[in-house]
Amino acid sequence: MSANHESPKHSAGTPGGKPTRLPSSFYNVISLSGAALAGLSVVLILFLFALEHFGNTESPYMGIIAFVILPGFLIIGLAMGAIGVLRQQRRRRLGLAHTERLPRIDFNDPTHLRATFLVGGGFLVFLALSAFGSYQAYEYTESDKFCGTTCHTVMKPEYTAFNASPHQRVGCVKCHIGSGAEWYVRSKLSGAYQVYSVMFNKYSRPIETPIKNLRPSRDTCEQCHWPEHFSGEKLKSYDYYGREEGNTHWSLKLAMKIGSGGAGGAEAHGIHWHTANQVTYVATDPKRLDIPWVKIVGKDGKEKIYRSTESDLTDEQAAGLEQRLMDCIDCHNRPTHHYNPPSRVVNKDIANGLIAHDLPGIKNLLVDLMQAEYKTEDEALAAIDAGTRSFYNEEHAEVATARAADIDAAIGRAQLLFKTNIFPEMGVNWREFPDHIGHLTTPGCFRCHDGQHQTDDGEVLPRDCNLCHTILSQTRKTGEETMSLASVEYVHPEDIGDEWKTTNCNECHGE
Ligand code: HEC
Ligand code: HEC
Ligand code: HEC
Ligand code: HEC
Ligand code: HEC
Ligand code: HEC
Repeated sequence: MSANHESPKHSAGTPGGKPTRLPSSFYNVISLSGAALAGLSVVLILFLFALEHFGNTESPYMGIIAFVILPGFLIIGLAMGAIGVLRQQRRRRLGLAHTERLPRIDFNDPTHLRATFLVGGGFLVFLALSAFGSYQAYEYTESDKFCGTTCHTVMKPEYTAFNASPHQRVGCVKCHIGSGAEWYVRSKLSGAYQVYSVMFNKYSRPIETPIKNLRPSRDTCEQCHWPEHFSGEKLKSYDYYGREEGNTHWSLKLAMKIGSGGAGGAEAHGIHWHTANQVTYVATDPKRLDIPWVKIVGKDGKEKIYRSTESDLTDEQAAGLEQRLMDCIDCHNRPTHHYNPPSRVVNKDIANGLIAHDLPGIKNLLVDLMQAEYKTEDEALAAIDAGTRSFYNEEHAEVATARAADIDAAIGRAQLLFKTNIFPEMGVNWREFPDHIGHLTTPGCFRCHDGQHQTDDGEVLPRDCNLCHTILSQTRKTGEETMSLASVEYVHPEDIGDEWKTTNCNECHGE
C-alpha cells in the first residue's frame, strides 16, 4: 500500500497515485517504530493501571513504571513519529524544485480525511491519558509511600521515625518541598539524581545531614506553625531511673519558656525570640555543631557579635564562611525524624510501665545492650535477647524463672525501641544525627549558650539554667522533693561536684 510513497509526484503534497490509508510521509521506519512504541506504552500503562486498580499489589515500583517510566516512552514514541514525518518531507523537498512548506490537507480526499480523524482522535486520547497520567505521576511522586519506601533501606530510618512522630499525617512533601512549581521542579531534578545514586549505589551512608538546600522554613513549617503567635510556657515532666540495681526513680518538672515572636504588641521573648530577630551564625563543621561566631542585628540596625573564647576564628575567616540566618531548622532539625538515645526511651518505657521497674538492673542492662556497636539490625536484636537472658540466668537465677514473662516483655520493648531509633545498616543513630533541641546528649542550645560566647564588651550569651526553662520541681533519688514556682536549684543525680555548671552536659552524656 505504500508502494509509491517515494514517488516525486506524490511527495509534492498533491495526493495521487495509489491510495494509502495515511499520508505517505508517515510510512518510514522512524515514524512506524515510534507509533509502535507509543501504542505499546499505552497498552502497558492501561494494563498496569488495571492491575493496580483491581489487584491488591502495593509495590512502589509499579507506580514508577506506570506513571513515570512508561509515559516517558510514550512521549518518545510520539516524538519519533513526528520526527520521521518531518524528515521524510524534508528529504523530498530537497530532491524537488517546487516544495511546499506544510503538507496540504484535502478533506475531499478520503485518505486525508481518514488520517486527520485518526491523528486528531489519537491526539485527543493521548491528551486525556497524559493529563490523567501526569496527574497520577504527580500525586504518586508526592506520596509518602513513594518518598519513604521506594528506596527501601535508604529511607527506612526517616520513614520509620516519621511514622512514629506527630507529623505522621503531614506528609514528606509539606516539609521537604512545600507548594509552588519552582520547588516541585527543583525537587524532581534532585530526586532524579537521587534515584540514580541509589541504583548505582553512589549515595553516602549515612545520608548526609543537614540537607544543604532545604527550602527555607518560612514556606514550609510556617504554613502551619506561626511562632509569632505562640505564647506562654509548657510544662514538661521527666522521669529518670538510675543505673544501679534498684533502678532508683527520680524526676524533674520544667516549665519550657516557649515564648513568642512578638505578635500582638508584646516584645519577642523566650525561646521563640530568635524567630523575630535576625540571628546569623558561622559554623566551622558541616553538621553545624561548632558555632564560634554569632551576630544579632537589632531592630535599630545595631550589630552585636558574640565570639567563642574557645575558638581562634578571626572575623576575616568568619567572613569567608557561610553566614546562616537562623530559622526553625537550626533548632528543630529533627521535628519528625527523631533518633532518640537509648537512655531516654528506656526511661520512658519504665515510666509507662512497659518495662518492669523492679527487674534488678534492667535500666543499665538495656541501655548498655542498645548502645553497643552493631553491623546489622538482626545482630542487635539477637544480642539484646541473648544479653538480657544470660544476665538474669547468671546473676539472678531466681528472677529468671519467677519473672520470665516480664523479662520477655522487656526484651520485646528494647528490640522495638532499637528498631525505631537506631539503624545500623544506614549508620543512623542519635550521635550521627544530633537533635539541636535541648543540650543533654548533643550540644543543641549550648552550641551558642555555653557561657563561652562573649561580645567585645564582655557581655556573655547566657547559660543560666532558668533562661530557657524554669526548674519547677525535682524529686531526688533519696525521695526528697524540692519545689518552687520561682525555680529550684538544680541538683545533678550523680555527685559530680560543680562539673555540670561549667562542663557541657553532652561531654559526659554524648556517648
Ligand atoms: C515536619 C517536617 C518533615 C516531614 C513531615 C518530613 N521531613 Fe524529612 N526532614 C525534615 C527536616 C527539618 C530535616 C533535617 C534538615 C536538616 O537538618 O537540614 C529532614 C531530613 C530528612 C532527610 C535527610 C537525613 C536526615 O535525617 O537528616 C531525609 C532523607 C528525609 N528527611 C526524608 C523524609 C521522608 C522520606 C519523609 C516522609 C516519609 C520526610 N522526610 C518527612 C523535616 C521533615
Ligand atoms: C502541614 C502542616 C504542618 C507542617 C508543614 C509542619 N507541621 Fe509541625 N505539626 C503539625 C501538626 C498537625 C502537629 C501536631 C500537633 C499536636 O499533635 O499537638 C505538629 C507538631 C509539631 C511540633 C510539636 C511536636 C512534638 O513533638 O510535640 C513541633 C516542634 C513542630 N510541629 C515543628 C515543625 C517544624 C520545625 C516544621 C517544618 C520543618 C513543621 N512543624 C511543619 C503540622 C505541621
Ligand atoms: C532557638 C531555637 C528555636 C527556634 C529558632 C525555633 N524553635 Fe520552636 N521550639 C524550640 C524549643 C526549645 C521548643 C520546646 C521544645 C520542647 O518542649 O521539647 C519549641 C517548641 C515549638 C513548638 C511546640 C510548641 C508547643 O507549645 O508545644 C512548635 C510548633 C515550634 N516550636 C515551631 C517552631 C517553628 C515553626 C519555628 C520557626 C519559625 C521555630 N519553632 C523556631 C526552639 C526553637
Ligand atoms: C546560633 C546561636 C544560638 C543558638 C543555637 C541558640 N540561641 Fe538562644 N540566643 C542566641 C542569641 C544571640 C540570643 C540573644 C542574646 C542577647 O540578648 O544578646 C539568644 C537568646 C535566647 C533567649 C533569651 C531571649 C530573650 O527573651 O531575650 C532564650 C530563652 C534562648 N536564646 C533560648 C534558646 C534555646 C532554647 C536554644 C536551643 C533550642 C537556643 N536558644 C539556641 C543565639 C542562639
Ligand atoms: C539555652 C537554653 C537552655 C539553657 C541555658 C539550659 N537549658 Fe536545660 N533544656 C533546654 C531545652 C530546650 C530542653 C528540652 C529538651 C527536650 O525537648 O526535652 C532542656 C532540658 C533540660 C533537662 C532535661 C534533659 C533530658 O533530656 O532529660 C535538664 C535536666 C536540663 N535541661 C537542665 C538544665 C540545667 C541544669 C541548666 C543550667 C546549667 C540548663 N538546663 C540550661 C534549654 C536550656
Ligand atoms: C562530668 C560528667 C557529667 C556532666 C558534665 C554532666 N553529667 Fe549528668 N550524669 C553523669 C553521670 C555519670 C550520670 C549517671 C549515669 C547515667 O545515668 O548516665 C548522669 C546522669 C544524669 C541524668 C540521668 C540520665 C538518664 O538518662 O537517666 C541527667 C538527666 C543528667 N545527668 C543531667 C545532666 C545535665 C543537665 C548536665 C549539664 C548541665 C549534666 N548532667 C552534666 C555525668 C555528668
